[in-house]
Amino acid sequence: ATRKIAVIVGSLRKESFSRKVAKTMMLLAPSQLEMEIIEIGNLPLYNQDDDDNPPPVYTEFRSTIKKYDGVLWVTPEYNRSVPGVLKNAIDVGSRPYGQSAWSGKPCGVVSVSPGAIAAFGANHHLRQSLVFLNMPAMQQPEAYVGNVGNQFDGDTLNNESTKKFLQGFVDAFATWVERHAD
Ligand code: FNR
Repeated sequence: ATRKIAVIVGSLRKESFSRKVAKTMMLLAPSQLEMEIIEIGNLPLYNQDDDDNPPPVYTEFRSTIKKYDGVLWVTPEYNRSVPGVLKNAIDVGSRPYGQSAWSGKPCGVVSVSPGAIAAFGANHHLRQSLVFLNMPAMQQPEAYVGNVGNQFDGDTLNNESTKKFLQGFVDAFATWVERHAD
């Protein structure tokens, strides 16, 4: 069956490596996955005071996420954790209490960095939230995309072994989503 995947990128930077990795994975994805990037940069900072009168962009974001069968997180690391913009999107989607848009959706985590540690800290801090959000997160293969700084010519991934790795990851992710679907 066709499965719709929301791709959430944890960086707003125009030339973001995370976004480039996400787009590369969308090109490599097997045909049963319909992947779309859902933008998070328009979501104002979450304030619980607004729960009774949420900004329309919140309502729209929550109902958009609910239409998807799974989520692919592709994120850089800021100060050994996830960027605030990504955490904000997670928080927005998780409310109102008891109506989280994320609950039950299978997901995959890809962390991206120009550094050698490959955003391990962000990858695993994100997984901590995913446990609470009741999102089955694929355990293997893991994806730590390090030393990414010289792996793109424009938007094109120039590293064959990274490409092969990402191919294996999206193929496994398709199986993971199918296993947890419905
Ligand atoms: C960073 N960067 C970074 N890199 C890393 O590997 N571990 C880290 O803890 C941090 N911390 C950090 C904090 C802040 C505030 C910034 C702006 C950057 C560097 C980061 O990996 C680099 O800027 C990436 O290019 C960001 O990802 P995108 O935007 O290319 O997807």
